[in-house]
Amino acid sequence: MSLQRPDDTDHREWLREKRLTPVERGYLLVLVYLDRRLRIVDYVELLETLYYRVNMQMPKSHTEQYNLDNKFWYWYPLYALGSFSVIAYLVAAVSGALLGFYYAPATTGDPSAAYNQIVFIMTDLNLGSMLRSVHRWAAQVMVAAVFLHMLRVYFTGAYKEPRELNWILGIVLISLVLWFGYTGYLLPWDQLAFWAGQIGVELFLSVPLIGEWLAQLLFGGFSLSQATLLRMYIMHVFIMPFVTTTLIAIHVGIVWMQGIAEPH
Ligand code: HEM
Repeated sequence: MSLQRPDDTDHREWLREKRLTPVERGYLLVLVYLDRRLRIVDYVELLETLYYRVNMQMPKSHTEQYNLDNKFWYWYPLYALGSFSVIAYLVAAVSGALLGFYYAPATTGDPSAAYNQIVFIMTDLNLGSMLRSVHRWAAQVMVAAVFLHMLRVYFTGAYKEPRELNWILGIVLISLVLWFGYTGYLLPWDQLAFWAGQIGVELFLSVPLIGEWLAQLLFGGFSLSQATLLRMYIMHVFIMPFVTTTLIAIHVGIVWMQGIAEPH
């Protein structure tokens, strides 16, 4: 079976007849080259149709429905807190990936190796202390922004039907963001980290019925050890980024589908 487009006549001839600038000619040549192999024009048209149809079904915004001229609320800064959380998340992700080049939870079974890596980043690595500060600040700004975003959603009544599911997803997200921060907080394995870890184990141990199981699962035992640090590390750099990114994408996708709620 031939993969050539049926309308693939001699496009070079056709292009030659047109009076085109070199840039236009180059653009069309690349487009035709790709289209003959990947049918990109068809797929772009398909996406356009899909986008148009989906948007036709969206609940109309308050301003559209009642033809209101005053769209001032739309620019109200508190409506930007969700996007602000996404930006803080991206900054944390990029700076975290760079920090990952220089940090290891331990090399010899001795968790103090982790602390030594942090000392290295802070004192010897070029721009290391800045990189670490950017990561810490981004994480803290994100927690604050997500919390304020939640307050905005609550006080504008945006959690009401049909947006309850996104509210529930939001509760899951804020819990994940806090756990993300906590796992990162333990990684330097300094005094702050150690005692925060101690509080964490005991907190989970106090959960009725499944407390011991939870402490074992999340902290690798009932007291802090090398296993604790390794678990925090794997959760922080491997599990949490995938889970959180996926859920943020679903959350923002639902906002896109439903449109933003107006204040009640
Ligand atoms: C990782 C954390 C989060 C991110 C990145 C995020 C992102 C966003 C973004 C970009 C929007 C679009 C509107 C806006 O920016 O205000 C939005 C809307 C929304 N978010 Fe979040 N969000 C997060 C956490 C939460 C939390 C904790 C809740 C509540 C428990 C929540 C509930 C909602 C709801 C109900 C909407 C729809 C609001 C409307 O239509 O006006 N989100 N979110």
